[in-house]
Amino acid sequence: MAVLQIATRPFADQRPGTSGLRKKVKVFQQPHYLENFVQSIFNAIPDRAGKTLVLGGDGRFYNREAIQIILRMAAGNGWGKVVVGRGGLFSTPAVSTVIRARGAHGGIILSASHNAGGPDQDFGIKYNTANGGPAPEKLTDAIWTASRSIQGYQILDGADVDIDHAATFWLGDMQIEVCDPVAEYAELMARIFDFDALKRLMQGPFRMRFDALHAITGPYAHEIFEKQLGAPAGTVVNGTPLTDFGGGHPDPNLVYAKPLADELFAENAPDFGAASDGDGDRNMILGRHFFVTPSDSLAVLAAHATAIPAYRHGLKGIARSMPTSQAADVVAEALGIAHYETPTGWKFFGNLLDAGKITFCGEESFGTGSDHIREKDGLWAVLAWLSVIAHTGQPVAEIVTRHWQRFGRHYYTRHDYENLPAEIGEQIMHSIAAQLPVLPGQTLAGREILIADDFAYADPIDGSVSAHQGLRLLFADGARLIFRLSGTGTEGATLRIYHEHLEKDPLRQHQDPQRTLRDLIQVGRNLSRLETLTGRKTPTVIT
Ligand code: G6P
Ligand code: ZN
Repeated sequence: MAVLQIATRPFADQRPGTSGLRKKVKVFQQPHYLENFVQSIFNAIPDRAGKTLVLGGDGRFYNREAIQIILRMAAGNGWGKVVVGRGGLFSTPAVSTVIRARGAHGGIILSASHNAGGPDQDFGIKYNTANGGPAPEKLTDAIWTASRSIQGYQILDGADVDIDHAATFWLGDMQIEVCDPVAEYAELMARIFDFDALKRLMQGPFRMRFDALHAITGPYAHEIFEKQLGAPAGTVVNGTPLTDFGGGHPDPNLVYAKPLADELFAENAPDFGAASDGDGDRNMILGRHFFVTPSDSLAVLAAHATAIPAYRHGLKGIARSMPTSQAADVVAEALGIAHYETPTGWKFFGNLLDAGKITFCGEESFGTGSDHIREKDGLWAVLAWLSVIAHTGQPVAEIVTRHWQRFGRHYYTRHDYENLPAEIGEQIMHSIAAQLPVLPGQTLAGREILIADDFAYADPIDGSVSAHQGLRLLFADGARLIFRLSGTGTEGATLRIYHEHLEKDPLRQHQDPQRTLRDLIQVGRNLSRLETLTGRKTPTVIT
């Protein structure tokens, strides 16, 4: 089979964002668009010859077509072997697992995560490195640079291959292994958790519901919860991946996973509810009539980590992204272990995990994980919560309220203003940044501002510095107000405002966060001159 050299010209918009390149499907369908980006990835990995690549996606629209193109391009670019999930499917945590288990050189994941799918919706592509984690900025910059000077790409001439049956075969000089996308991941989970204890939990009166939102975790959840742990059939709902996720947003939060939330807040609610996102790395945890914020989830799991076999000797340290509440820091201090604050984006945890500095990490954006892989992991978080429930014998609400009594409650809410014109987003950030120097010492909403800055992070392992990672106001009473522009959208700008306040008094730990944080919310709106600049009176999403 011949390797074709196809001439092409650069596209100006192939700069990877927080999590790879995300665009509308129609953009990816332009002639040469996907090919250019894939070749740019390969050009940024000069030592790829003969190495193994893992490949799969969340099954969204254009997944199958893209898999075929990437297989032929991998063969045309000297890769030794591609391990592809059957049906072209792999969750993000499973790709991370398989890269590490096989000693692969890297992996390509096709997903736009929690963004909607379908012919008029989003598609995405991201590269993970040999540690199983997202490409670091040095590499995404190299990919972007390559994309701006690309003149041509190499692709094997040939027909589509069969990706629907587990088998090993050759495509030109490259081997392709089509494997079960679930098996290796499920084996890893069985090594981390006490499946016998979880089976006993499932056999008792305990009832749970897992909503896969028609996305990738369906097959994984059916296998693990129903088949291996013995939860009754029907525990997993919306468990078949659909190319358009049934028309919904595969985003596990109270807005987009509303049917699940409604069920958990209904009269005859199950004990436990959880959901994951498009590519399986996010999680939402609910108890009966109770929502666990992702920031609290990290803190609670850290406090109970030794109940899980893989962590029975304790944690090395904990990391959270900057906008994530400080609840986990308080636990780390109580445990006498280190805690770290990184910029938003899972890739910033990679060095800390590789260096053995941390065991758990998490983000307010519904991401929780550990050193078992180098991605956040939705089903891992669910299994971790089930383990804590099995170990304590307590319902979710009690586990969390006891946690607050001991460590204090970090009231938390994030307000998103989606789809603003890009220049307005920039303008808001610039005008807040301009006010930062005069803010320290001022009192707003009855709180004194200690520090007001533009968050920059110096990686403690490799010394690299990432600047402009969000604007922060730190108050003397421990409260925080943070502004950031989303790095994952595909249209216009999304402004995120994060509000946090610590309440140590157990008698005042049961209020509505929107009420408790009302003053801070107002300060945020005033400082950003939101209504004047955007005309928006309310956020589009509140989490
Ligand atoms: C992706 C990354 C997360 C990150 C999130 C932030 O999901 O994997 O690590 O927290 O994006 O998204 P944002 O839209 O706030 O930039
Ligand atoms: Zn995701």
